[in-house]
Amino acid sequence: MIPIQHKHLYIDGQWLAPVNGQHFTTLDPSDESLLAEVPAASAEDIDLAVQAARRAFDHGQWPRLSGSQRAVVLRRIAEGIRSHAEQLAELEVRDNGKPLPEAQWDIADAAGCFDYYAGLAEATDSAPRQTIALADERFSSWVEREPVGVVGAIIPWNFPLLMAAWKVAPALAAGCCIVLKPSELTSLSALQLAAIVHEAGVPAGVFNLVTGLGPDAGAPLAEHPLVDKLAFTGSVPTGRRIMQAASREIKNLSLELGGKSPFIVFADSDIAAAVEWIMFGIFWNQGQVCSATSRVLVQRELYPALLERLIAETGKLRIGSGLQEGVLLGPLVSRGQYDKVLAAIEAGRASGARLVHGGERPSDQPVGYYLTPAIFADVPTDSAIWREEIFGPVVCLRAFGGEEEALRLANDSEFGLAAAVMSADIERAERVARGLRAGIVWINCSQPTFTEAPWGGYKQSGIGRELGQWGFDSYREVKQMTRYDSEQPWGWYIK
Ligand code: NAI
Ligand code: MG
Repeated sequence: MIPIQHKHLYIDGQWLAPVNGQHFTTLDPSDESLLAEVPAASAEDIDLAVQAARRAFDHGQWPRLSGSQRAVVLRRIAEGIRSHAEQLAELEVRDNGKPLPEAQWDIADAAGCFDYYAGLAEATDSAPRQTIALADERFSSWVEREPVGVVGAIIPWNFPLLMAAWKVAPALAAGCCIVLKPSELTSLSALQLAAIVHEAGVPAGVFNLVTGLGPDAGAPLAEHPLVDKLAFTGSVPTGRRIMQAASREIKNLSLELGGKSPFIVFADSDIAAAVEWIMFGIFWNQGQVCSATSRVLVQRELYPALLERLIAETGKLRIGSGLQEGVLLGPLVSRGQYDKVLAAIEAGRASGARLVHGGERPSDQPVGYYLTPAIFADVPTDSAIWREEIFGPVVCLRAFGGEEEALRLANDSEFGLAAAVMSADIERAERVARGLRAGIVWINCSQPTFTEAPWGGYKQSGIGRELGQWGFDSYREVKQMTRYDSEQPWGWYIK
């Protein structure tokens, strides 16, 4: 067991109380009980953390180590996560509400992410430069990659440790130094990560963890002039603020924002498979997933039968505390998110959509942020529930006629994170996939996510890509090196 750390910030390799001595509380969403008090950092703590990261980057050894040397430390972090996996998974359930098996996936994936980026760091040693073929033979030109510098990472509450890993692992692998600010709703696993990072021997200042509220800790991090890159995952309005903050020093920026992802189901699909992927696509993690396929378009011939089956199967989902065996839907993360989702359901009813299942507190769950999964049918395309991200277990369905109509409806959104298409005709499925304006398109499935594959969105769903080589490169500057090899004078002045 690692001791549960939640009284201190982790700055410059040390556990420090916040300068102002303030804390905030985090609740267990399954029974609304007090879970922990967490330091409420302010701009002064952020400044200490950023200064530490700056020193570590400008003068420390971390950015100057070889990829293989950094890989050794990253693998120790992966090992540290694995050896505390049970404890971390349970902590995640208590803080976020998600069912235990899903928390276990998250923890395993977080460890895997550190191993994966250890591999990419190592690979940089054998290919330190990329040669550029120039038409002008008097010159040799190549590209070398260098770490971007000090990274300010701000993450959400839906996959607390995993979202930390998606940023921390590639940033450290690239040789960056980082200040991480987790969501105030779920700071606990990030605090444990800091303890693991410390144990793994990451030098002081290379990784810093500052917990706190968005406006008090997130905003000063985004605005800090010594930060070189901001990496943010969260809502579009906060993403806009981050982008504004980045504009002052023209900081490097990556944003992973919201979505309202479509799922197109053609009539030739296997109905049982379609229903399972639809349910998984919107109900796993209580629908609090940026890529959740929340708009389902079903070809008219299949629509009535599919709707009937979806209602029947959804009715069987077990709702309860994430620690209970067999539970597939835990509570939503917070009172705020619960109220927001209930308000969206109310607005959906008022807009003329048919609520055909759920959308209310289960009768046997008087406390906790529990909600029966909601299914809306025949949803008008101009309604808020069809257009806006709800971030809860709420699915909207509509019928379509042909391929062209499906694509038009699917692409009619300000978001473009993910999309899914299902058909027995693979040629058609791939044709439709190509027509979808989204950064991730799933064919005959929805949601499976892989560390090796790029993740990110079109349109208002964000800028840049995480994961895979793309995520690694987003923490690396491109440096052009060009050498004049000719014995001849250049000839501008010396003729
Ligand atoms: P949020 O975007 O406000 O919070 C995400 C992170 O940003 C948290 O760490 C928060 O402390 C921080 N933050 C908040 N205000 C900030 C500011 N002014 N400057 C810098 N950092 C700031 O999202 P929130 O309020 O937790 O959820 C609201 C909605 O956002 C959800 O209902 C959902 O629709 C969407 N969302 C999308 C996520 C995604 O993965 N795309 C994740 C979480 C929420
Ligand atoms: Mg919590």
